[in-house]
Amino acid sequence: MKYMELGKSGLEVSNIALGCMRISDLEEKDAAKVINNAIEAGINFFDHADIYGGGKSEEVFANAIGMNPSVRETMYLQTKAGIREGFFDFSKEHIIEAVDGSLRRLKTDYVDVLLLHRPDTLVEPEEVAETFNILKKSGKVNHFGVSNQNPMQIELLKKYVEQDLIVNQLQYGVMHTGMIDKGLQVNMKWDGSIDRDGSILDYSRLNDMTIQAWSPFQYGLFEGVFIDNDKFPEVNTKLQEIAETKGVNKSAIAVAWILRHPAKIQTIIGTMNLERLTNIAKASDIEISREEWYEIYRAAGNELP
Ligand SMILES: NC(=O)c1ccc[n+]([C@@H]2O[C@H](COP(=O)([O-])OP(=O)(O)OC[C@H]3O[C@@H](n4cnc5c(N)ncnc54)[C@H](OP(=O)(O)O)[C@@H]3O)[C@@H](O)[C@H]2O)c1
Repeated sequence: MKYMELGKSGLEVSNIALGCMRISDLEEKDAAKVINNAIEAGINFFDHADIYGGGKSEEVFANAIGMNPSVRETMYLQTKAGIREGFFDFSKEHIIEAVDGSLRRLKTDYVDVLLLHRPDTLVEPEEVAETFNILKKSGKVNHFGVSNQNPMQIELLKKYVEQDLIVNQLQYGVMHTGMIDKGLQVNMKWDGSIDRDGSILDYSRLNDMTIQAWSPFQYGLFEGVFIDNDKFPEVNTKLQEIAETKGVNKSAIAVAWILRHPAKIQTIIGTMNLERLTNIAKASDIEISREEWYEIYRAAGNELP
């Protein structure tokens, strides 16, 4: 497993992290196996949110691993706040309440990173700044970041927030490449050249923010998994071809493809299957060439000018 710095925080995190959105579906004993498998593979970073499983994911995670101060020291925990039933809420009251709830469920005094989950257009950045100061001063949150935000939304926060924003978590994977399409297809009259995110990839690199790729195996917004999916024969054939040369499986190559980008993207995988997790974790040590990267990109249905 390879490790990387999250933003400029000094946190040395595994470049593959385990997303715990789906862990609420598991019995605690099975959840324990998944978490231990991840730890054995070298994963030291776990992604949560207050809303996963309606709070149950954080609870199952903490119980499964027998959370206590010494266990807590061995891992990095990230959680998110700001999504409510039918609306987004970056108010001080809600964020503080959400963090307190997460800490209670995770059975810990602090999270390493807190992300604002999805942009709230009614955000008062001065209020967010005050909230972050309270959370930082109390020791409940060590570092802050965002998720699903574009550069100008981040700039607006940065005008007031005193702490570095070290992470932006965004959907990204072989079948969800908007972040890079428009950079490769600049000024073409094609769909791929449309700027939908304000050049978030270049912005993140310029500002030392780590992009975390969520749902790396999905296409669309939770429409399904593209691996072994008949809808995507070309990309599956290409992944298989490259996988065979490296002695790993297609899923590992799909993650190695994300990790190959020099933006140093951390990949948040969501499998709860032990064998799959072990196989995907091998991606961290797989090198794919520039040529292979572009072959996969093209096999995913993307045109180059
Ligand atoms: N910031 C945000 O807005 C946001 C949104 C969504 C998710 N997230 C984060 O991202 C994490 C990952 O999301 P995700 O679970 O959708 O990611 P994913 O890794 O793309 O998908 C995992 C799901 O795909 C299934 N799957 C089927 N075949 C697979 C294969 N060959 N390889 C890998 N997975 C396969 C897995 O089933 P098995 O368990 O049976 O393997 C699991 O249900 C979440 O846990 C969460 O932490 C963040």
